[in-house]
Amino acid sequence: MNALHNTWYVAAIANEVATEGMFHRRILDTSILFYRLADGTAVALHDRCPHRFAPLHLGKRVGDEVQCAYHALRFNADGQCTHSPHGDGTIPPRACVRRFPLVERYGFLWIWMGDAQRADPALIPDYPLLANPVPTAIGRGYMHMAANYELIVDNVMDLSHVDHVHGPLLNTAGKLSPQKPPVTAEGNTVLVRWEWQQHPPMGLFAPLLPDPEGAAEQFVQVQWTAPSNMFLTVGAVQGSKDYEQGLISWDYHLLTPESDTSTHYFFGSLRNFMVESEEFNQMKLKNMIDTFMAEDEPLIAAVQAEMGGAEFWSLKPALLSSDPAPVKARRRLQQLIDDEHAGQSGAALARSAAA
Ligand code: FES
Ligand SMILES: [Fe+2]
Repeated sequence: MNALHNTWYVAAIANEVATEGMFHRRILDTSILFYRLADGTAVALHDRCPHRFAPLHLGKRVGDEVQCAYHALRFNADGQCTHSPHGDGTIPPRACVRRFPLVERYGFLWIWMGDAQRADPALIPDYPLLANPVPTAIGRGYMHMAANYELIVDNVMDLSHVDHVHGPLLNTAGKLSPQKPPVTAEGNTVLVRWEWQQHPPMGLFAPLLPDPEGAAEQFVQVQWTAPSNMFLTVGAVQGSKDYEQGLISWDYHLLTPESDTSTHYFFGSLRNFMVESEEFNQMKLKNMIDTFMAEDEPLIAAVQAEMGGAEFWSLKPALLSSDPAPVKARRRLQQLIDDEHAGQSGAALARSAAA
């Protein structure tokens, strides 16, 4: 896969991995088994028995260990085989399973698919709003998307599509496409921002503004952080341009490649209005997920199907005024991926020179 390995990806919403039982999901084309130890610690193992390669999630839990369904080898949370009912019980040296670093933060489980020695939790993006949110003002959601993760980054970093794709809830009334939004790239982040006046306001905000039929000042800002995490701030205010006095929605779009052509799409959604209403909380998250699945997903999946396995730049895409942000994100990510490969081949060269 063309993806960064030495980085943290969201693997699951924390409550997808329960105290009992097992959970599994494919990440970067690798099957992963998740479960929780008796003390609550979540662990991630390669979901593949080293004997005849049965998926371990088909087996059963034995306390803090997992027993394979096929010939009953048993593994602890470090992936070491602790029990074999075969022969004299000798455990063959290859009977071990890879364990992946896993950190629980912001209500998500973050996994490191690369070199475990480099898995520093300080490299998880800094998202202070997610650290300690009002419980009724945070929604976390999951969508499966039949498209490469970079196509989804393109979708979020180029919001000019909102003018044309989205219905009443998110409609921006043609105000974004004419703009050449300012873009700032710094380190492993790219920031893009649109501001406009809309009359009547976007459906997400209109019923909650003082004058639902009147004009509103609106903005949306997207911060991309490599490899594929995006933080959106969307706001609307009436009677001034002081957005702090208006309605603000903060939305995290955290993408994890499943394969070259599919993506796990995690949402974290917060707001500064109706913060005490759990009912509104559920409705907002449901509306967002329904909107994405009905309006974004079919188009992005159709793009993926049309592109087949072709590499994006090899198709020589036409570029528009809204494209600097997604292009900068693509270029920065490719640089990081190329550096990772160069580091690996550099290390391999050093090893062969030493041999
Ligand atoms: S495949 Fe797991 S013990 Fe044989
Ligand atoms: Fe969209």
